[in-house]
Amino acid sequence: MDFLITDGSIETLQPTVVKPNPGFFSQVQEERFRQLVNDHYELIRNTKIAFMFPVEYEDEFAKVKKRAADFLIQICGGPDYYAQTRGDSRMLARHARFRIDEEGRRIWLECYAQLLPSLEQEGIEPEYIQSFWNYLNVFSKLMVNTPSR
Ligand code: HEM
Repeated sequence: MDFLITDGSIETLQPTVVKPNPGFFSQVQEERFRQLVNDHYELIRNTKIAFMFPVEYEDEFAKVKKRAADFLIQICGGPDYYAQTRGDSRMLARHARFRIDEEGRRIWLECYAQLLPSLEQEGIEPEYIQSFWNYLNVFSKLMVNTPSR
């Protein structure tokens, strides 16, 4: 496995997104998946991009975690909780009110890069973990809406 972050600067061409292998969600299962997303946001709390999130309002922060987990579970082939509660994903539009640049994207991704290795120790197939990473690495490029300073 490699958790390499490839260039997602706004100037680069739009990448082709490949959904994660459904084996990832099948093996990880919902409870552990939600824990992963929770842990990701808890790491974000201590980064330069924390200001973008309602980290000081536990109820609001819990909602962000839930929405993100719902979305990622859906994209990984799990239940469509996100569609049921939020409708169309419209990820670009939903991120548009935030100034997301390549540095912010890297910080966001590095938090996942810290967490994914433990899944292998828990018995998740490295190939599946890699496919989830590849999705995050590429899809996050689409969220970059602000040129690097
Ligand atoms: C694979 C990449 C990403 C995915 C799948 C993703 C997914 C999501 C989802 C599902 C939501 C909730 C949308 C809703 O309101 O229904 C969300 C919110 C948000 N995301 Fe992302 N995101 C990604 C990358 C990023 C990056 C790179 C940043 C910033 C560096 C970011 C910043 C935010 C912020 C600030 C919110 C709003 C939090 C709030 O509601 O207060 N996201 N994201």
